[in-house]
Amino acid sequence: MSILAEKRVLLVIGGGIAAYKSLDLIRRLRERGASVRCVLTQGAQEFVTPLAAASLSGQRAHTDLFDRADEADIGHIKLARDADAVVVAPATANIMARMAGGHAPDLASTVLLATTLPILIAPAMNVRMWLHPATQRSLTLLKSDGVAVVGPGVGRMAEAETGPGRMTEPDEIADALEALLAGRDGGKPLAGRHLLVTSGPTHEPIDPVRYLANRSSGKQGHAIAAAAAAAGARVTLVSGPVTLPDPPGVTVVRIETAREMLAAVEAALPADIAVFAAAVADWRPATLTDEKIKKGPEGPPPLALTENPDILATIARRTADRPPLVVGFAAETTDVIAHARAKIARKGCDLIVANDVSAASGVMGGDRNTVHLIGRDGSLETWPTLAKDAVARRLVARLAEMTATP
Ligand code: CTP
Repeated sequence: MSILAEKRVLLVIGGGIAAYKSLDLIRRLRERGASVRCVLTQGAQEFVTPLAAASLSGQRAHTDLFDRADEADIGHIKLARDADAVVVAPATANIMARMAGGHAPDLASTVLLATTLPILIAPAMNVRMWLHPATQRSLTLLKSDGVAVVGPGVGRMAEAETGPGRMTEPDEIADALEALLAGRDGGKPLAGRHLLVTSGPTHEPIDPVRYLANRSSGKQGHAIAAAAAAAGARVTLVSGPVTLPDPPGVTVVRIETAREMLAAVEAALPADIAVFAAAVADWRPATLTDEKIKKGPEGPPPLALTENPDILATIARRTADRPPLVVGFAAETTDVIAHARAKIARKGCDLIVANDVSAASGVMGGDRNTVHLIGRDGSLETWPTLAKDAVARRLVARLAEMTATP
């Protein structure tokens, strides 16, 4: 049985002569047991009609971003979520550029920007457009965002030119989608495991209205929790104050201070894997006043600080119930690797994910991250700059490998 059986595929049809092949793709996907819902760009409608897509898919085809009936009934955000994967075929140079740049002027591009599902694109365009540096740049960006690509093939095209640009045949696109989904959720490599993740900043109160904090958004930690849940793990996410939604299928414990985070982490043990991605405040005000500190003639109050518990080091040193795999992060602004190497020894963890959080790197609060993986044995691996979601998926795959039972 195909992995596509019972899967819901959102098929975005772009405007190109290859759009006629997408009608065949609908049929092929349905033959393998998938249900297909189509979104057509305006360009696509010059080549195929929404009625043809609807007839072949057995579901209404969507075309407009601001369609009253649609918004009342399904809406673009729901379209972006109510599926298991998104396929873009044909992916024109225009769609690829919009996806790479995050532009969303129509329904298809809005759905692509709003979705967190696995995406497969099947590019199709004139050979010169494909080879243009702008399209190649889009391609590189899309790949680094974790988008899977099939094709284009080489051959004679509509304009009687020969070269890369032909859309891959529907059956091969369906094969590529099977491979993508098999890689993502086929094996559920963390099924039966409990993974504990810390994420976000901590807030350390000075008085009832003020606190010390840092710029952590929680994006990387939350993405790891989401990726681990998608890999089949039972996930407990202990999070400081963030504005992110709870990742699906994850138990979220909300805390404010470092001491509360430590208590919540201890309460969540035992765990098979613990990932400490939170940016815990190293210090907290030594005294907490119950009333708001008022301005006075004596000038600013002295702010004495005291050290917070090191949650990672505390857990890594536990004897009875130390998680078998303890992973720390190292947030550095200079000498990233040297500092991270020192940290792995000092904290007693098994693996450190080191990243440059200097203001120029844009990592704190941003969507992308360049990380180095440092092992206890001193091994070093540098990953390319990736979206935080892609870093999370890759890290989770690595953790699954490291804890796999033969
Ligand atoms: N960490 C923790 N508890 C703390 C401080 C840090 O659990 N009180 C964890 C972080 O979640 C991260 C790792 O320790 O996994 C390293 O955090 P980082 O801020 O880079 O290091 P610090 O311990 O603060 O060291 P330094 O200030 O020297 O960079």
